[in-house]
Amino acid sequence: MHKDVKEILYTGDDITNACKRLGKVISEDYKGKEVMVIALLKGSIPFLAELSKFLDGDFEFEYMKVSSYSGVNSQAISVKQDVDAPVTGKHILIVEDILDTGKTLATVASMLKERGAASVEIVTMLDKPEARVYDIHAKYVGFNVPPEFVVGYGLDYNQKYRQLPYIGILKEEVYTK
Ligand code: XMP
Ligand code: MG
Repeated sequence: MHKDVKEILYTGDDITNACKRLGKVISEDYKGKEVMVIALLKGSIPFLAELSKFLDGDFEFEYMKVSSYSGVNSQAISVKQDVDAPVTGKHILIVEDILDTGKTLATVASMLKERGAASVEIVTMLDKPEARVYDIHAKYVGFNVPPEFVVGYGLDYNQKYRQLPYIGILKEEVYTK
């Protein structure tokens, strides 16, 4: 275990099993439909890589990078990199690492609906329901986590720890010092 990690919540095997379960349900739910998967950079990539092994059907893959402003208008997020293809009429499945306050996903989902997506759903590796501020719900969830700062499997603190092959709680001393 990494020295900055207090506790491991989910191992790589746990995540693989969650991806199998989610992949089965998603493949069934979208049977006969064309799906545009939109993964949010950068944190969702390890989860996307694992989940995509268990997706059976007609899926295309797009990537989007957004960042939230911490300024006056806390609702605002900026699109740093947009999808390459039009989303009009598409069934969209957003892939995210963690759903926290919900600001990112609430904003991205409404943006895609405004552009005319046929449907917009979310698959998130982790959900922190106790931290929710915005009215947004993920249809597909890997695991619920407590309201603590977690890292690994794509999740970072200052761009570090993304490579850890598990999800762990970061020691408080790392981000309070
Ligand atoms: P919101 O609040 O918009 O947050 O739902 C989503 C984004 O915030 C980051 N985030 C975390 N990153 N450990 C992390 O490494 C966490 O516990 C955590 N909580 C939120 C993450 O980038 C997510 O996309
Ligand atoms: Mg993220």
